[in-house]
Amino acid sequence: MKTPSDSLTILTNIILPSETNSLNNIFGGELLSRMDRIGSISARRHAGVENVVTASVNLVTFQQPIPMGQIATLEAKVSRVFSTSMEVIIDVFMEETSTGEKTQTNQGIFTFVAMDSLGKPIQSDPVVPQSQEEKIRYQDALMRREISLMSAGRIKPSQAIELKKKVLEE
Ligand SMILES: CC(C)(COP(=O)(O)OP(=O)(O)OC[C@H]1O[C@@H](n2cnc3c(N)ncnc32)[C@H](O)[C@@H]1OP(=O)(O)O)[C@@H](O)C(=O)NCCC(=O)NCCS
Repeated sequence: MKTPSDSLTILTNIILPSETNSLNNIFGGELLSRMDRIGSISARRHAGVENVVTASVNLVTFQQPIPMGQIATLEAKVSRVFSTSMEVIIDVFMEETSTGEKTQTNQGIFTFVAMDSLGKPIQSDPVVPQSQEEKIRYQDALMRREISLMSAGRIKPSQAIELKKKVLEE
């Protein structure tokens, strides 16, 4: 049995001048690149394969800028496995070393697909959520998958069953 913690991948770095925008905060594309890297490592760890590809960037939030010189930590975990695809959630935190305080600045939700050595999608083991947060993320991943597949034109709106349920719940 594999849990989200089995795929936990952490990347801690200082934001350097070459990685910032004209306001001296981290450049958005720099953060996306880090998210994609760490997310793919997390997916590989879960699937136990050498190759995964990014199938979709489902959501990236930018709640707060991370200024130059700050310490940024990215934490990635597989939140749900479908068949060959996996949702990985990447939480980004800024760390104040003087107080030890960690503030969440961003979140990324990506879909990766596990590949065999010939570049053919292969199935991965399911993930079993443990904490309350992991259970919510696991459940909501179904709806996020439908939104992503619908946006990519892979399913029709009428096939988005979980999304419909969620809308009717409100
Ligand atoms: C993503 C990709 C593997 C899908 O391949 P495909 O031949 O269409 O294969 P499938 O239809 O079997 O899709 C594979 C899985 O991806 C999922 N998928 C594909 N597009 C998706 C999207 N936009 N959102 C969510 N999931 C998606 C499918 O639902 C399927 O998941 P499942 O097996 O868990 O049900 C293929 O389009 C690809 O290789 N794209 C390029 C990837 C790339 O270059 N990434 C950047 C560099 S790493």
